[in-house]
Amino acid sequence: MDNRKEFLTKEFSKRFQGKPEVWTRAPGRVDLMGSHTDYNLGYVMTMTIDRETWLAASPRADRVVNIYSVDMKSGAEFSLDDLKKDEKTPWVNYVRAVAKYSMEAGYKLKGFNAIVHSTVPFSAGLSSSAALEMAIAMTFQAVSGFEMDPVEMALIGQKAENHFIGVNSGILDQYSSAMGEAGKTILLDCRALRSSLVNISPELKIVICDTKAKRNLLGSEYDDRRKQCEAGVAILQKLDPKIESLRDVSFEDFDAAKDQMPDPVRKRCQFILEENQRVLDLAEPLSKNDGVRLKELFSSSYFGARDLFEIGAPAMEEMYQSMVNAPGVVAARQAGAGFGGCMVALVHPQKVDAFSASVIKEYKQRTDLDAEIYAVEASDGASII
Ligand code: GLA
Repeated sequence: MDNRKEFLTKEFSKRFQGKPEVWTRAPGRVDLMGSHTDYNLGYVMTMTIDRETWLAASPRADRVVNIYSVDMKSGAEFSLDDLKKDEKTPWVNYVRAVAKYSMEAGYKLKGFNAIVHSTVPFSAGLSSSAALEMAIAMTFQAVSGFEMDPVEMALIGQKAENHFIGVNSGILDQYSSAMGEAGKTILLDCRALRSSLVNISPELKIVICDTKAKRNLLGSEYDDRRKQCEAGVAILQKLDPKIESLRDVSFEDFDAAKDQMPDPVRKRCQFILEENQRVLDLAEPLSKNDGVRLKELFSSSYFGARDLFEIGAPAMEEMYQSMVNAPGVVAARQAGAGFGGCMVALVHPQKVDAFSASVIKEYKQRTDLDAEIYAVEASDGASII
């Protein structure tokens, strides 16, 4: 941490006058259960990871934001009075978007100079964009002198993605980054926008397995899944007008309606119903280290994601096989939106090194790709440092 501060102070001084006065951070996230349940207003078991986006900033007297990313090696300067999308430095659009929707919510923002640095891998399904949004929102609060409720902050980040960036995502990523807690996972209710803390047994390590496979079709496939779930809701609503989302559908309702559902709508709905139930079922075995149950829940989530929700990828299948064959593995599944990116395993703590070595070797043999494997701990949600 001291090294990181020292490094960012130097980077800051290269570009701006003086030293940073404000430090903020926000973590990435990994979901332990609940793929695509968020926009269906269901449940997710999610946790922050100890990979974080940091901002080193100093307030400005005017309404200008000047920001530079050490990772992207690019930056931009813009006025808070002129927030237009700019494709020259696309990552800065997240900054503009958070500014825009914070102001729309009534907050009075001041300008700042800042350096950004992130240890959340980009485009891997670990929410690097939500981490940036939440760190930016924290920075605006610190330099402008106001406090925002973290759930409101998450909603502003989601609005930024949906309306400015044009990604139709749910609340999962921003909520996790804003509301996560060190050492815990959270059971998030995406309709109530409330969460409760769940213990992870000390006998389990959370290990991220990055397939390093490119996620090309992500945008359009993601939107298709949303539309198919909405089509399912429309059919179910004819049977019961009280149904507003798949969250309201019981297995009995689904059984009564499924013959009227064309494929793939039926498969998509079945997955979401089952996945929601798995989230609720996960808290107990996760805190008690019930290996048999954890394996059951994780593997049925993976098979459902692959065969019913169809968010798999050839590289994910090879990674799944490499994970379940490795020493020390308790359970393994997909993470994030799917279609490549990262997956997640529960591993016995003493076996993490052996697990990693085995996965890297087997995955390389199967795909010729170099996987990246690392254990993570949950860190606190977005904060001023
Ligand atoms: C992406 C989206 C989230 C969520 C997940 C799938 O990470 O940004 O809102 O839908 O996919 O669970």
